[in-house]
Amino acid sequence: MMPANFDTIVSLAKKRGFVFQASEIYGGLRSAYDYGPLGVELLRNVKEQWWRSMVQMRDDVVGIDSAILQSPEVWVASGHVASFSDPLVECRECNSRHRVDKLKDPNKCPTCGNSGTFTEPKEFNLMFKTHMGPVESEDNVVYLRPETAQGIFTNFENVRRTSRMKLPFGVAQIGKSFRNEITPGQFVFRTREFEQMEMEYFCYPDDADETFERWIDIRNDWYTDLGMNADNLRMHAHDADELAHYAAGAFDVEYRFPWGWDELEGIHNRTDFDLKAHMDHSGEDLTYFEQETDSRFVPYVIETAAGATRTTFAFLIDAYTEEEVNGESRVVLKLDPRLAPVKVAVLPLSKKPDLVETTNRVADSIRGNWQIEVDVTQSIGRRYRRQDEIGTPFCVTVDFDSLDDHQVTVRDRDTMQQDRISIDSLAAYLSDRLPR
Ligand code: GAP
Repeated sequence: MMPANFDTIVSLAKKRGFVFQASEIYGGLRSAYDYGPLGVELLRNVKEQWWRSMVQMRDDVVGIDSAILQSPEVWVASGHVASFSDPLVECRECNSRHRVDKLKDPNKCPTCGNSGTFTEPKEFNLMFKTHMGPVESEDNVVYLRPETAQGIFTNFENVRRTSRMKLPFGVAQIGKSFRNEITPGQFVFRTREFEQMEMEYFCYPDDADETFERWIDIRNDWYTDLGMNADNLRMHAHDADELAHYAAGAFDVEYRFPWGWDELEGIHNRTDFDLKAHMDHSGEDLTYFEQETDSRFVPYVIETAAGATRTTFAFLIDAYTEEEVNGESRVVLKLDPRLAPVKVAVLPLSKKPDLVETTNRVADSIRGNWQIEVDVTQSIGRRYRRQDEIGTPFCVTVDFDSLDDHQVTVRDRDTMQQDRISIDSLAAYLSDRLPR
């Protein structure tokens, strides 16, 4: 299935309260976004599913949450201060700025259409700089982290010692990262503030190739298991000339966005580059000692680096469906129930007080299990349509018969089939159909 139209998704995201422009009442801050009541649930669910599969369900991966601000030395050691940059040109005619490597024609300004008007390319470092403490001097410059990964490498020994993990083992982290992108865009796809879900898997150097292949499969399966259409996913292997300075091998998980294939996640064989770099710069010993073989060495690292905000956007696009039902068209977000922002909507057939009272009682009886919504306004048909449009897997309707027979009607979002269920067995009915 082809992905949905970009403008349609952006307008649904704004209209239904998934994503708002940051500082909208002040005209908006370009490339920063706020997540609304539905967006925050969807984003949380994506992160929750990632954490569940990467940490909770595995006995070889533990999690951490490192600080956004780190010693500037971290970014010197990692290579970000020297080389985390993009080549920037400015058009002398219209003053627009562009990344040279993203230009279709390196001589022609895509903003004003003039040729030969670019300045010489300059390397532009993407890290945001700020100052720690009250004095703004070069001595107290700190950076907002451009990736979560380095907080894992610097804690390698702390985690190994305290969790008593033995090779091979991984350390996972979810958190905000910041990059002063030259060309942010495509809504929340490329922003200057975003969230990442990264995992560094430390392994024996000899096992790195096999471990790399294994993680490529695991990560591909994660997306399809959560309902992403396999036709809209592909693995792109980097050629040797595309590889980052730290990588011996790299694959991108790519999604077919409305504008074409683009990256969702990078899977890299980072060799022993990072631990060695931090050993050299900090003077600390980050080698691994293996008692059985009485040997000491620097582990290799396989990294899986996904964008939480970008992945959330891809799930939203992938779930968007327009279909014809009994001669009427409906929009439905066919999100996997584990990702759906609202799992169950409880709807009284009318606003009559005794129906609303029973509705509230039914809602209270399941509120502790799932994110639910009670909606009493508008016709039942319109309320079903709204819930379809935000991807709610089940609507529970309380009608006049419910007052006597203590039963409710449960409507399935995808099949629109309706089951009559006793209120007492509602929680069990939903539990069977809402996996964790
Ligand atoms: N530690 C390796 C690393 O950060 P990356 O490929 O630069 O690798 C990993 O970033 C993922 O983070 C990307 O695949 C993407 O999903 C997300 N990401 C990177 N820059 C982003 C941005 N400006 N806006 C949104 N997501 C971004």
